[in-house]
Amino acid sequence: MKMVDQRAHEPVLVLPRTLHWALFLLTFLVANPYTLAQLFSVDSSGLGISLMESVAMALNASSLALANNTAWPVQHNPPEDQLEIESYDYIVVGAGSAGSIVASRLSELCRVKVLLLEEGQLPPLESEIFGLSGALHHDERYMFLDEAAPNPKCCQAMASGHGCVWWHGRMMGGGGAINGNIYIPGSRANFRNWNTTGWDWPQVQQTYTRLQRRLNLSYLQANSLNLKLANLIYSGSSELGVRRMKQPLIAGSTFGYTHHVPVTINQGRRASSARLYLANDRVNRRPNLKVIRGAQVQRVLINPEGNQATGVVYTLNGVEHTAKASGEVILSAGTLNSAKLLLLSGIGPREELQKWDIPIHQDLPVGRNLQDHGMLPLFLLFGSNCAVNSTRDPTDNPYAPISVTKYLLENQQGPLASGFYMMGYINSSSPSSTLGEPDLHVVAHTLLPKGSTGSFGYLGFRSDLIEAQQDALKKWDLLQIMGSLLRPLSRGKVSLSSKDSSDQAKIENHYGEALEDQQTLLRYVRYIQGLTNTRSFRRCGLRFWMPPLAECDILIPDSDDYWLCYIRYFYVGAWHSVGTCRMDSQEEGGVVDERLRVHGVKGLRVVDASIMPELPAGNTNGPAMMIGEKGAQMILEDRQEDNEVLQEC
Ligand SMILES: Cc1cc2nc3c(=O)[nH]c(=O)nc-3n(C[C@H](O)[C@H](O)[C@H](O)COP(=O)(O)OP(=O)(O)OC[C@H]3O[C@@H](n4cnc5c(N)ncnc54)[C@H](O)[C@@H]3O)c2cc1C
Ligand SMILES: *[C@@H]1O[C@H](CO)[C@@H](O)[C@H](O)[C@H]1NC(C)=O
Ligand SMILES: *[C@@H]1O[C@H](CO)[C@@H](O)[C@H](O)[C@H]1NC(C)=O
Ligand SMILES: *[C@@H]1O[C@H](CO)[C@@H](O)[C@H](O)[C@H]1NC(C)=O
Ligand SMILES: *[C@@H]1O[C@H](CO)[C@@H](O)[C@H](O)[C@H]1NC(C)=O
Ligand SMILES: *[C@@H]1O[C@H](CO)[C@@H](O)[C@H](O)[C@H]1NC(C)=O
Ligand SMILES: *[C@@H]1O[C@H](CO)[C@@H](O)[C@H](O)[C@H]1NC(C)=O
Repeated sequence: MKMVDQRAHEPVLVLPRTLHWALFLLTFLVANPYTLAQLFSVDSSGLGISLMESVAMALNASSLALANNTAWPVQHNPPEDQLEIESYDYIVVGAGSAGSIVASRLSELCRVKVLLLEEGQLPPLESEIFGLSGALHHDERYMFLDEAAPNPKCCQAMASGHGCVWWHGRMMGGGGAINGNIYIPGSRANFRNWNTTGWDWPQVQQTYTRLQRRLNLSYLQANSLNLKLANLIYSGSSELGVRRMKQPLIAGSTFGYTHHVPVTINQGRRASSARLYLANDRVNRRPNLKVIRGAQVQRVLINPEGNQATGVVYTLNGVEHTAKASGEVILSAGTLNSAKLLLLSGIGPREELQKWDIPIHQDLPVGRNLQDHGMLPLFLLFGSNCAVNSTRDPTDNPYAPISVTKYLLENQQGPLASGFYMMGYINSSSPSSTLGEPDLHVVAHTLLPKGSTGSFGYLGFRSDLIEAQQDALKKWDLLQIMGSLLRPLSRGKVSLSSKDSSDQAKIENHYGEALEDQQTLLRYVRYIQGLTNTRSFRRCGLRFWMPPLAECDILIPDSDDYWLCYIRYFYVGAWHSVGTCRMDSQEEGGVVDERLRVHGVKGLRVVDASIMPELPAGNTNGPAMMIGEKGAQMILEDRQEDNEVLQEC
């Protein structure tokens, strides 16, 4: 076995053109007290230029320190001779939210050789500065832009010919390197409902405690405009009997509103699990952990009997390689790709494998049970004088050059480091009740300030809707409220679109097709209408802004039929895919057992969001990382040599 340990050439910072311009412009702003004119009036060897240069150097140094590419494990090079096959104890596929933790934990055992294969590259600076991460959201280098097959019953607002989006992260950190950083562990009842031994709240809590020690979560600093918005929502909702949350969210709280939302951000900087578990001196120099980026796994190798995983086949720069695993292969490629890899490896529903002429090793319901919270945006406009008013209380533009400077030069502070999340957990059937479980997550309350470009372009909606929203924003501040179903009943499916691992999986989703889901979404609309009728909301003249929808506008305004039509257009994906490799017994339709082992195949586990039998009561990244911690612990517990000493490598 040949282990090359050579610091490969690291990709350089990737900054979008806008940021380059920002950096260029802000050198002028920072060069206070020199004005532009003064700068240009000095000769080329004069003070102005050198000042600009020194600021540019300071910015460059600061952004390099922030991205700190040297902190990552070095790129491992597979043997040049393809026939030379490396062998490891464990091969982890995917360095996302869960996989990064698995690889880090397993390699704590010095004697254990671990190979981590990640298709993506290092996160660029925009990922590290979470306020800029939106810039990566349509960038195929850092995201898989998977889309579901178009469905006339949902996501009709998408640009023509497009289905619901199922975008996910593609880089070290996976979804955790691109997401909104919201950290919610879920609730007691949530895990009880999973019906699986070892995953009850007390056991899961132990793992969360371990995880949270590493995460060092923080809370975003809201600007004054958003604090006023929070107060407005607290007072409106309390008129409806919905109170502020009694317990913190992080303790598994269930009912009420809060704007104290924990985030995976450390000192103004994104803290993905990859960054925290892999990019530090304790881990990146472990000789027993090899990481290959840009490695696209094609399939898992299974023995001829179909009951033992033996390794993986992957391609790197177009060249195919094989790596052997004497212990286990762990799939952590995410809900869509772990399912796809199992299917390509001959593990899945018989008829699906037959269709593609893939030899069948195990007939398991891989790809079924696809779930997502989904989200339905509603828009309120501020019609009259009110404390919440972006004109009276303008906030600094986080993307302005001066904000970028402040962030980079002043220890990650300023508008780019501030943010605001507010969420409510509500039983939509009786909002003032705290009995039972909430079924509605009122996730985000985003103020779209007058004159801004709005959210429809970002969401991938068609151009007439983007224009209509921008027109509305010429006149008003808009409040965008997202409603997510905590327990949607509609299920989707992942299957293959070809035999080629580099093609995206075929995704069929059925957002809002279950009648119960439609009823819950209707109750959500009525609940928000109730809010607009509270004294607090009326005082601000808050009323609905309705995007123009020719097909729905011919229906009776505000009728259930109208809203069901609206739902077909606007109830879209929330990037929370789970469930395709469901954890349960084989009889009950599980793909993996309670220790995340694929039924019927030794040496093969799935450790990521795909194993969740059901969506958690909140965003999915916290649970995905918890699954990573718990999965790693199970793998170590199940090792034959039980007298091994756990020692940091
Ligand atoms: C835009 C967006 C916003 C979100 N916001 C939030 C939020 O605020 N809070 C929250 O809790 N959750 C959020 N989520 C969801 C959350 O990030 C995911 O649920 C979580 O990251 C899933 O973790 P995972 O380990 O299952 O998979 P991932 O993190 O997706 O990791 C899978 C990894 O496997 C790699 N991979 C895939 N296929 C292969 C292959 N064939 N070979 C090698 N490597 C492969 C991928 O590149 C990726 O790095 C968001 C997601 C997105 C996309
Ligand atoms: C930034 O600094 C690095 C390391 O010192 C240097 O190699 C690079 O050329 C600098 N980039 C710019 C744009 O100045
Ligand atoms: C970058 O990370 C390395 C390894 O963890 C660390 O030693 C170094 O101090 C970091 N550099 C900066 C500029 O933060
Ligand atoms: C757990 O069991 C209950 C009762 O049988 C069932 O209603 C529920 O759907 C199960 N939960 C999951 C996630 O399968
Ligand atoms: C955790 O975060 C706090 C501030 O949010 C910081 O002061 C502290 O140094 C962090 N701890 C570690 C271990 O990073
Ligand atoms: C917001 O404040 C500005 C400036 O005071 C005022 O002109 C405008 O009418 C206010 N907006 C609303 C909706 O009242
Ligand atoms: C919501 O409240 C209603 C009425 O109090 C109750 O019947 C229902 O069970 C609750 N829903 C959930 C999901 O607990």
